[in-house]
This record gives sequence, C-alpha cells and structure tokens, in this order.
Amino acid sequence: MNAKLRRKLIETAKRARERAYCPYSRFPVGAAVLTDENKLFFGANVENASYGLTICAERVAVANAVTRGAKGIQAIAIVGRAPKPCGACRQVMAEFSSKDTPVLLVDVSADSRKETVLRLKMRQILPHAFDPLEAGLLPPNPQNLVKPRGGSSARKTKRRKKR
Ligand code: THU
Repeated sequence: MNAKLRRKLIETAKRARERAYCPYSRFPVGAAVLTDENKLFFGANVENASYGLTICAERVAVANAVTRGAKGIQAIAIVGRAPKPCGACRQVMAEFSSKDTPVLLVDVSADSRKETVLRLKMRQILPHAFDPLEAGLLPPNPQNLVKPRGGSSARKTKRRKKR
C-alpha cells in the first residue's frame, strides 16, 4: 500500500469516527477497510442503552465491506484515542485478512489535530489466531469468505462439488 492510499484509508476512518453513536461512553471510534479490490468501506461504533449490544467500529466496517461483496481485506485503519481493537474485533478482522495485513492504529488527540500512527500487522495484533484453515473448517465454508492461503479458489471448489 502506497503512502497516498494509506492517507486515504486514515482519512476515511477519521471521517467515519464523526458518525459514531456513543452517548454512553463518549468514546468515538472510526474504522476503515481497504479491500483486495481497492475499495474502501468504513464503520463507527454504535452503542445501545443495553450496553452489551454495542458494536465496535471495526466490526461495522468489516460487515459493511463483506455485505458489499468483499472477500479479503488489504489493510485496516482504526482511529480514536489510544485505539486498540478489542479481542473480538481482532478475530473478526483476522477472518478476512492475511497474517501480513497492515493494521494502522491512529491515535488522535482531543481536537483531532495531532495524530500518531502505529503500523502493525495482523499477526502481531492477534498471534495464534484461531485459524479456520488450520482447524480444518474450510472448505466447507460455502461462500469461501476467508482468503485462500495458497489453497484452492472458490471456483475450483464449486466445480469439485458439482461432480
Ligand atoms: N470501541 C470500538 O469501537 N473499537 C475498539 O477498538 C474498542 C472500543 C468502542 C466500543 C464502545 O462504544 C466504546 O468504544 C467504549 O468502549
């Protein structure tokens, strides 16, 4: 990912943060996902009066990308104050990422003027992730949503099933 695209990804996550619905925590988070097809999707945290129903920005962004047809994530940016994706979001991001997918943690100050970018890889933020390929759960994933890591393509799987 070049510097221009990285900037676009970060700015998309920053704008997404403005859409956060967080009257309870007052802790807005924005996330942006760059798909393998170079498309950008975003999400923000959406809280609920029943606190446990809150959805994190990262999961909203990933769900947005996947429901628009994305199969793989090329990079992710998360913007907030000292943003650190929760454990659940790490596993959800891993589902559509490779172990080398860049995860940009963009720490913004209260007035959003200053930012610090911590560039990590998926393997660093979620070492020893539960891996559906290693666990033998794929294929039968009917949609082949997880990026094949040197495995067969969705097409091949379809053809094999027909026989
Ligand atoms: N939150 C996110 O959206 N992403 C994270 O990475 C961590 C936390 C949200 C959930 C909740 O709305 C608020 O931040 C405070 O926990």
